[in-house]
Amino acid sequence: MIAVLANPLYVKRDHQFNLSTTLGIPNLGRSTDTSYHRDTQTKATHPSKTEVPTTTAMAHPNAPAPPNPATNPDAADDFLLQSYTRLRHTITTTTTSSSSSREVLPSLSALATALSSLPDPTSPSYLCPLGPAKTHAHLLQTILPALNSQALSPRYFGFVTGGVLPIAEAADNLVTALDQNVQVHFPAPPPPPGSDSDGADGTAATAWAHSVCTAVEDAALRMLISLLGLDESKGDDDDEGGRWRGRTFTTGATASNMLGLACGREAVIARRLAGIGGEKKEMAVAEVGMLAACQAAGVREIQVLTSLGHSSLAKAASLVGLGHASVKEMGVAGEPWRLDLDAVEGELKRAEGEGVVSIIAVSAGEVNTGRFATNVLDMPKLRSLADRYGAWIHVDGAFGLFARALPRTDDFVSLHGNVAGLELADSIAADGHKLLNVPYDNGIFLCRDASVLTQVCSNPNAAYLASPDSPNAILSPLNVGIENSRRFRALPVYAVLLSEGREGIAAMLSRMARLAREMAAFVRDSEHYEWLPSEDASLESTFIIVLFRAKDAALNEVLVDRINATGRMFVSGTRWDGKKAVRIAVASWRVDVARDAAVMKEVLTAIAEGWR
Ligand SMILES: Cc1ncc(COP(=O)(O)O)c(C=O)c1O
Repeated sequence: MIAVLANPLYVKRDHQFNLSTTLGIPNLGRSTDTSYHRDTQTKATHPSKTEVPTTTAMAHPNAPAPPNPATNPDAADDFLLQSYTRLRHTITTTTTSSSSSREVLPSLSALATALSSLPDPTSPSYLCPLGPAKTHAHLLQTILPALNSQALSPRYFGFVTGGVLPIAEAADNLVTALDQNVQVHFPAPPPPPGSDSDGADGTAATAWAHSVCTAVEDAALRMLISLLGLDESKGDDDDEGGRWRGRTFTTGATASNMLGLACGREAVIARRLAGIGGEKKEMAVAEVGMLAACQAAGVREIQVLTSLGHSSLAKAASLVGLGHASVKEMGVAGEPWRLDLDAVEGELKRAEGEGVVSIIAVSAGEVNTGRFATNVLDMPKLRSLADRYGAWIHVDGAFGLFARALPRTDDFVSLHGNVAGLELADSIAADGHKLLNVPYDNGIFLCRDASVLTQVCSNPNAAYLASPDSPNAILSPLNVGIENSRRFRALPVYAVLLSEGREGIAAMLSRMARLAREMAAFVRDSEHYEWLPSEDASLESTFIIVLFRAKDAALNEVLVDRINATGRMFVSGTRWDGKKAVRIAVASWRVDVARDAAVMKEVLTAIAEGWR
């Protein structure tokens, strides 16, 4: 920031129209300006076209009017440079001291002010232009204070919400500034004249020098595959693109689960068609739709076998035409997050003769308990069952998959056992915006057999979206994912992996796990709290989630609210065994085990001791 402010270019331009003037903000410090508060300042919020902005009126009478960044490209550069400086300045000065003591939630008055400032559809000035400067001032002064500190505080433990590593934020700004549309892969340009080699990926001279974005996206996906050890056991499905050639960034694990079920649906019906010598590609779901394909394959039902699958799995089932009812619980009695392999085998056997095909969805990290569906020997057994009965294995590893990137130390042996063998799945969902600490939205989808994914996602008959022919080229993202036009959401992941490497990621994940374990031990040993799902569990079964409740039933009813009202930490609630429970999900790079555990213990002890 200092470097930016000291930049001569900045200083020179600032002379022409200083930061406050350009942004329409009278002072840079903690502003109490409520000029966008609808109740009191409708006029200021929606000035008429002839009205002179307040700050210009305050400037020297001979000062030139600031150029409008919306119409003047030079002013736009300045506006952006200054608006970002201003944003960071506001973040660091309008909240209480350091990030470690920052209030996790916005104040009620900030929320009320922001809500009442939202444009009023009944006002005559509704959708009258406010201009970039005043709009930006409104964002910083009124909207920003009403947002929570999930990315800024180390103690936002709600849902499973990652923070944003600084390098990821910097990369994400680049993404917005350059606004690449990462949808069609254009191979590298031909070599310079006189060179005897082909283009980087075997292309002919028709290639376009378009953008490196698809190659960066693919490099990020390959780095992730390697970080997560998913390339460990090489099979005969390896090809030039490497294992998991069906790979893409999505908007999140929900979208990735949707792709997983769509691919599973495609493949299990294709296997049935092949098994009865039926039509293949011509009768695929992608070609003729579910009804006709199922009819041709003699399939009357597609089921999804899981153990405490995330709610997004049922949503995905609805979206791909399977329906919520297709999702069936196959958990071990007393440990419902664990997949009961005997029950799965029984169901596959029963289904085979009854025109039912199956997708097995492995919960690699259950959202309430944080526990895993499988243990060290389970995945090879599941693979052979799936192969025998023509089933598809999809792993939902939204957060849990990252246990594979923990250090190989004694304290993480148990977790490594839980995620061992996941590379044997057919498809995998994970989230970047959770434990990898890149900004929303960022999900990952991997499919072992790229041809299934391209069958599901191809854009047929779109010559204008075709990439130049190239045998080993990267698959165009629009043919392996849900969207066509897409954000360059790979770049923050690329930047984080480059910056942190295996070691940095392992250290960040270890910090999260150690804080979670410290808190698990605290609630287990506390006279006031009960560690869930079982107090007998080993601490080493904990990755990043701690589930607990108050022993006092009345306190338990209000516990989440009591904790959040302190403003020192934020947790989200859930239900376990029919009763309310609290979840702590540690997912921010900012956590410091000793510092944050001390605050959390203090909060939980004070609430319990102050109760009645
Ligand atoms: C196991 C699991 N799967 C899927 C999801 C959905 O992820 P997203 O909200 O990123 O789509 C979550 C979210 O917490 C999750 O924990």
